[in-house]
Amino acid sequence: MTKAKIFIDGKEIIVEEGTTILEAAKKININIPTLCYHPDQKIKGICRICIVEIEGQKSFSASCCTPVRDGMKIRTNTRRVREARKSIMELILARHDSDCLTCVRNGNCELQKLSEELNIKEIKYDRIAENLPLDESNPSIVRNSNKCIKCGRCIEVCHDVQGVGAIDAINRSSDLKILPGLYEKLSDVACVYCGQCINVCPVGAIYEKDDIERVWNVLEDKSKHVVVQMAPAVRVSLGEIFGFKPGSIVTGKIVAFLKAIGFDRVFDTNFTADLTIVEEGNELLHRIKNGGKLPMITSCSPGWIRYIEFFYPELLGHVSTCKSPQQMFGALAKTYYAQKFGINPKDIVVVSIMPCTAKKAEIVREGMYSSGYQDVDIVLTTRELGKMIKESRIQLEDLEEVEFDKPFGIATGAGAIFGATGGVMEAALRTVYEKMTGKELEKVEFTALRGIDEYKEAKVQIDNVKVKVAVVNGLKNARMILDKIKEEKTDYHFIEVMCCPGGCIGGGGQPIPNTNEIKKKRIEAIYNVDISYAIRKSHLNPVVNVLYEEFLKEPLGHKSHQLLHTHYINRKN
Ligand code: SF4
Ligand code: SF4
Ligand code: SF4
Ligand code: FES
Repeated sequence: MTKAKIFIDGKEIIVEEGTTILEAAKKININIPTLCYHPDQKIKGICRICIVEIEGQKSFSASCCTPVRDGMKIRTNTRRVREARKSIMELILARHDSDCLTCVRNGNCELQKLSEELNIKEIKYDRIAENLPLDESNPSIVRNSNKCIKCGRCIEVCHDVQGVGAIDAINRSSDLKILPGLYEKLSDVACVYCGQCINVCPVGAIYEKDDIERVWNVLEDKSKHVVVQMAPAVRVSLGEIFGFKPGSIVTGKIVAFLKAIGFDRVFDTNFTADLTIVEEGNELLHRIKNGGKLPMITSCSPGWIRYIEFFYPELLGHVSTCKSPQQMFGALAKTYYAQKFGINPKDIVVVSIMPCTAKKAEIVREGMYSSGYQDVDIVLTTRELGKMIKESRIQLEDLEEVEFDKPFGIATGAGAIFGATGGVMEAALRTVYEKMTGKELEKVEFTALRGIDEYKEAKVQIDNVKVKVAVVNGLKNARMILDKIKEEKTDYHFIEVMCCPGGCIGGGGQPIPNTNEIKKKRIEAIYNVDISYAIRKSHLNPVVNVLYEEFLKEPLGHKSHQLLHTHYINRKN
């Protein structure tokens, strides 16, 4: 690579040619402001807030999309640059509903932060903010177009990462609008409610439906027995909202908080993740032994399920019929748990804390009322849990760690790794190997399936079968593998698909920022949680085994089918 010697604000730096001015400046700790730029996305060059002066050039250049040239002399902080940036910012703010105090991103908004950093005190332009209605057409996601700064990040993630294309830019220049196709509402298009658009949005223009008040209300209702479950990915990310380093594990503190605000029982979704592995592992063995439809594909990610229902319904027979761990938990809470502890299921309220916005829509799907009631009543995202903690004024860092309640608080390391891409597959292999061979699996780590890569595969010799598995995350990669299945170009037995890049740790309800760098830290933490368990194989979970003895009787049995399995819908037409 050819090197270029350049000068930024008088500082000499040698970088590879092709490096952008923005990247070069970062290397010497010169922080140029950005808005449409996102570290995990393509360069867009839309907002122009990152402009700089280059010696010998009259006009400004956008530093995020201008590559350096040898000998370039760049100024990032002249009076002219500062004034121009202010004018750009004022133009953006003139079209923006700037009511920060009631905005969902107050305190965590790139526009708000930049406005402060640029010392904006007044807006010289006429305010032309529109007053468009909110899009609250679906159970998961709200869009507030009045806050949108048209940066294009949501469009890129929806099209290029998720391969969905539910939102688009309509019209040009001052008429530009970001909309669900030609429609007004997300519920009119094939949106899978993954919330990846929320994760990249710099402002409060897209966010999850807020269910916090509903939770406060049920906690106050003394006629209700309120139980809560927490997904594996929440414990390794919530701390970020409170200043903990990415990858900090705050499980016990969350349990302590949930008990402090009045939940009757605090349970762990890792428990039903173990149960999922037992059911799904048996389903796979059954398909292998009886010539069932292969490859079998995992079913625990509701955004992924909506995706295949919309785009590849002809392949739904490949998807495991197992419900997600969230839904298995709800069905058992209002049947087995209710019976065992003598509680009327109509008085039980099941709350979930999930890293995922699609989970809010999953609870009202057809088939999710198998207990005779709505199996899960309310879903909060990790971010909403953060808001509840703030609202309560309880200091997370001061809380003594508390353990989950029994019986559904007992889990294994295999259940814990569901939160990271590759985790479900690794957990399944730990169980399927022992079930098929009757021998102990000594090395439980399948490292080929770990890490943030979009596509991973492994071959595992189990008895006389070489089991071939694949793992993909992000729906665009799912599309690639589905096309191969359609063309009969795969010989996989089992495929794990996670809707969100990185798996649930990168879910649409996770703390923002949710960048690849941060996701890697969360994944590391998930595997540390796995190591911390004495038992690391789902089928050895003692409470899962008691559940079969006392209630379900056998995997894939009648009761399991009734409560733990589901069916899918062709949404293409
Ligand atoms: S999007 Fe940001 S700047 Fe706009 S109102 Fe919300 S917090 Fe304030
Ligand atoms: S929720 Fe997912 S599918 Fe829907 S618009 Fe956002 S990124 Fe696209
Ligand atoms: S909704 Fe958010 S991410 Fe999408 S264009 Fe508007 S500001 Fe950007
Ligand atoms: S950050 Fe460079 S143009 Fe938007």
